[in-house]
Amino acid sequence: MTKRVALLISGGGSNMVKLVESMQGDHPARAVLVGSNDPEAGGLKKAAAMGIETFAVDHRPFKGDRPAFEAELQRQLEAAQPDIICLAGFMRVLTEGFVRNWDGRMLNIHPSLLPKYKGLHTHKRALEAGDAEAGCSVHLVTPELDDGPILGQARVPVEAGDTADTLAARVLVQEHLLYPAVLRRFAAGDHAPLMLG
Ligand code: GRF
Repeated sequence: MTKRVALLISGGGSNMVKLVESMQGDHPARAVLVGSNDPEAGGLKKAAAMGIETFAVDHRPFKGDRPAFEAELQRQLEAAQPDIICLAGFMRVLTEGFVRNWDGRMLNIHPSLLPKYKGLHTHKRALEAGDAEAGCSVHLVTPELDDGPILGQARVPVEAGDTADTLAARVLVQEHLLYPAVLRRFAAGDHAPLMLG
């Protein structure tokens, strides 16, 4: 049975585009919905142009009332009956209640070699620590931020003269390879960690 995938984004959606493009042919999943917490997110237009249904639930009018925001997000998602949810540059921190609704079937990409550098500014922190390598991780989402079981990682070297931006660009190339590869395995029932680079 082909798995139905919903994707959540907050910005340009480059990871979302790679994931949607990858779900073709003999892929065990199909993208059915792309949603965002920002109605102006550039990725929504890209998804619509690829023929994927989209929605937006603007978090701002909820003025920090996360349960109310998430109740509307949940309602929109449930309508599409997804088997898997991919967070792809989705920048809202989700409550335990929401995460439990999708236990074991919500994935996220994070731009560091978890468990290092959970949260924000991962590349700046890796450079400040003098790390020789950096990377990205795809993990299952659990109530603890950026803490769930790792499904895949990709490593890149930190190069002399790197800035947070140049490092982020090098890591993003790997994100676009890692996330589709992990999703294909996950949708086929293979949850063994995939290590690239
Ligand atoms: C990516 O680096 C991702 O790891 C992080 O946010 C960035 C989003 O990029 N969570 P995009 O919106 O997928 O282009």
